Amino acid sequence: MKILVIGGGGREHAIIKKLKENPDVTQVYAMPGNGGISWDATCLAGSPTDGDAAVGYAQAQGIDFAVVSPDDPLVQGVADRLRAAGIPTFGPSAQAAAIEGSKVFSKELMKTYGIPTAEYEVFDKAAAAAAYIERQNQYPVVIKADGLALGKGVIIAQNLSEAHDALKRIMGDKIFGDSGNRVVVEAFLTGVEVTVLAFTDSKTIVPLVSSMDHKRAFDNDEGPNTGGMGVIAPNPWYTPAIAAECMVRIFRPTIEAMNREGRPFKGCLYFGLMLTDTGPKVIEYNCRLGDPEAQAVLPLLESDLLTILQAVEDERLDTINVRFRPGASCCVILAAGGYPGSYKTGMPITRLYREPAAGVYVFHAGTALKNGVLLTSGGRVLGVTACGADLEEAIQKAYDETAMIHFDGMYMRRDIGQKGIRNKYGGI
Ligand code: AMP
Ligand code: GLY
Repeated sequence: MKILVIGGGGREHAIIKKLKENPDVTQVYAMPGNGGISWDATCLAGSPTDGDAAVGYAQAQGIDFAVVSPDDPLVQGVADRLRAAGIPTFGPSAQAAAIEGSKVFSKELMKTYGIPTAEYEVFDKAAAAAAYIERQNQYPVVIKADGLALGKGVIIAQNLSEAHDALKRIMGDKIFGDSGNRVVVEAFLTGVEVTVLAFTDSKTIVPLVSSMDHKRAFDNDEGPNTGGMGVIAPNPWYTPAIAAECMVRIFRPTIEAMNREGRPFKGCLYFGLMLTDTGPKVIEYNCRLGDPEAQAVLPLLESDLLTILQAVEDERLDTINVRFRPGASCCVILAAGGYPGSYKTGMPITRLYREPAAGVYVFHAGTALKNGVLLTSGGRVLGVTACGADLEEAIQKAYDETAMIHFDGMYMRRDIGQKGIRNKYGGI
């Protein structure tokens, strides 16, 4: 089988490596892929949102199955384009991807169908939003741009002046373009954050092992928000009892709500949850696997990934047994100095050509190959994942592997998973 994967980050590298475990997979293409991905797949030039290019390549290469991985192409309908061209594809329709593409849509969905989430109001005028925030007088307050904003569309304002500033930047200066035409203003939730990725064919829903992202740039959850600096799986706080409650109160109701709205969701639904004093609540939905969460979760998947993705597309997920390996995993992101602010690219990466030990993976997020030399090409450069019998072992093995890798300015958090070790629940 020939597979086309749309995207070019660490998550896509993890997907590609997993797909290649299936002996029927003879060739994988990535559009655009990246330097490290080119060791595992044939990289095709093009933007992930270019539906014409995706269909053109798929037809030219005789692709048997396509995977549309990132949010932008999904929201822009690239999966629909591939399906319309007769190519079996994993990834939700644009209609269903609106669950991530519009925060207003997702909040209204949750309100309509009674799915627990933070209280909120929607505004299309900054002045009205500011007046509401002033009246509520509850801080911190969370301000979210309606549309996609490269993962940066959420601002947590600590006081009225920060809220004014956020509204001005989103709605006045349009730092996220049209994504800021409307905003959601919502209550700040406190608790432990959990990510649950779930495969669904719109009838059956299969949650994968839970995980915990580490979004802040520096140790002890300090510094600016990033796309994610590391992940552990499972999330030690996500107990079987909480998982059962989420299935009844959040996962199933979400799938049913999307069906009732005429937007059946087929793909991977990302539940960003906050475990609050009053139960689990949805912080956000995404229409895809998380990045870096996928880099920690997929290595724990024992079942064949391609079989699952095909079952999702064919709406027979109920016939598949999805199994996970026991133990835990830890993914540590190696970032370029300065990230998430400005950073240099083009630094040579050394000591990477050695095959990592069994159960250890080096996923490439922002790398490029130039004349055979591997260079950095992004803020998040590599994701180093290790699986272990328990969390302590996974963390140790992941950090041991990071010691083998070097590029100028390389930095990582040193405390990925430490909070998890201090928590003694057994997560699933
Ligand atoms: P998002 O871009 O939607 O992933 O949000 C980024 C991060 O902002 C989340 O992972 C949370 O840590 C935080 N966040 C978003 N909404 C809320 C909320 N209502 N209460 C507390 N934290 C939030
Ligand atoms: N790690 C957060 C996300 O994938 O959106």
